[in-house]
Amino acid sequence: MRVIGAAVAGTGFIGPVHIEAIRRLGHRVVGVLGSSPDKSRAAADALGVEKGYAAFADLLADPAAEVVHLATPNRDHFGQCQAALAAGKHVVCEKPLAMTAAETAELVRLAAAHPRQVTAVNYNVRFYPLCLEARERARAGDIGEVYHVTGSYLQDWLLYPTDFNWRVSADAGGALRAVADIGTHWLDLVTFVTGLEVEAVCADLRTVHPVRRRPAGGSETFTGSAAKDRPAEPVAVTTEDYASVLVRFRGGARGCLTVSQVTAGRKNALRFDLAGSKAALAWDSEEPNVLHVGHRDRANEALGRDPALLSAAVRPYANYPGGHAEGFPDTFKQLYRAVYGAVASGEPNPLVPTFADGHREVQVCEAVLTSHREQRWVTV
Ligand SMILES: NC(=O)c1ccc[n+]([C@@H]2O[C@H](COP(=O)([O-])OP(=O)(O)OC[C@H]3O[C@@H](n4cnc5c(N)ncnc54)[C@H](O)[C@@H]3O)[C@@H](O)[C@H]2O)c1
Repeated sequence: MRVIGAAVAGTGFIGPVHIEAIRRLGHRVVGVLGSSPDKSRAAADALGVEKGYAAFADLLADPAAEVVHLATPNRDHFGQCQAALAAGKHVVCEKPLAMTAAETAELVRLAAAHPRQVTAVNYNVRFYPLCLEARERARAGDIGEVYHVTGSYLQDWLLYPTDFNWRVSADAGGALRAVADIGTHWLDLVTFVTGLEVEAVCADLRTVHPVRRRPAGGSETFTGSAAKDRPAEPVAVTTEDYASVLVRFRGGARGCLTVSQVTAGRKNALRFDLAGSKAALAWDSEEPNVLHVGHRDRANEALGRDPALLSAAVRPYANYPGGHAEGFPDTFKQLYRAVYGAVASGEPNPLVPTFADGHREVQVCEAVLTSHREQRWVTV
């Protein structure tokens, strides 16, 4: 494949993960953008990138940047996606795609109006090889009819009222926080694996800390506790720390999801149990190299991630032999393998999460919020 140039906006927690993954594939990161010209230059130096752009317009004007990665806070995604598509760029946007379903609907329309540009939402969890394998098995009918999917996405980095991040503010992150930030990874994954579509939701949310202490100078993602000794001011918080969501899928399957950012000891634990009429599948992102296959009439299986044992369609996305663990950063590499392959070939890759997928997740988020506020089932 030819070497493709990329520019990355957002140099906090996840932007550098994008950069590392692009480079591991042999593509070239030509420039980065931070929240100010100084931050762009500092990030370019720290990450060994040639250019630190002064503004998003400079990034868009760079002909060497064919693909634009948006790893900025959620409120910037909509405008940056619009501008990047108008500038003729391929776009990889972090999740959630935008703040409202009206915005995401507009981005779906724009993506369709630019069919030669590849557009993707960064639902990287799909690209754990054993999640791709679960999808292959579900599609092949190995687990039979799906009766229900249960699971959770639990973290602890916002456990204390002294933990703070832009995500807790509805203005910067959106009115839903835990569900939009991590719950949508679970929803994207289980709908991707099963092919099911969410029809209706019934949600109960809780803001455990209605007041948090914002440290002077802000705090970085996942490292909030590092700022806890700095002076801080109290800030009212309306976004949820916890959610329980009952899900009805089209066709009759049922689901149940618990999301929390205040569960001590669970650092980044996405789990699902998929109950089918023939077999069950279970997976845990903190033990990502094992897929549990449950049987009623014979011994259960623990399938280790090993390219030699995976379906042919999944093998290209598992690059190390069995026993050589692959994890979180590898999922970004494999997602971009699919995205950059589509850029190079001009052929879409059905594994890539599309803007339409990103739109559906935001529609589900809005239904979750309405359901909680009105204490009733809401159709998506
Ligand atoms: N796929 C995943 O696993 C995953 C993980 C974490 C975050 N995310 C998503 O990535 C995005 C960024 O999250 P994060 O955790 O890296 O946040 P972060 O706060 O760590 O980093 C955001 C960065 O964007 C910069 N920034 C702010 N406004 C900007 C602007 N207008 N232009 C350019 N840069 C700007 C900030 O200076 C900061 O460096 C969010 O949408 C989040 O939901 C996805």
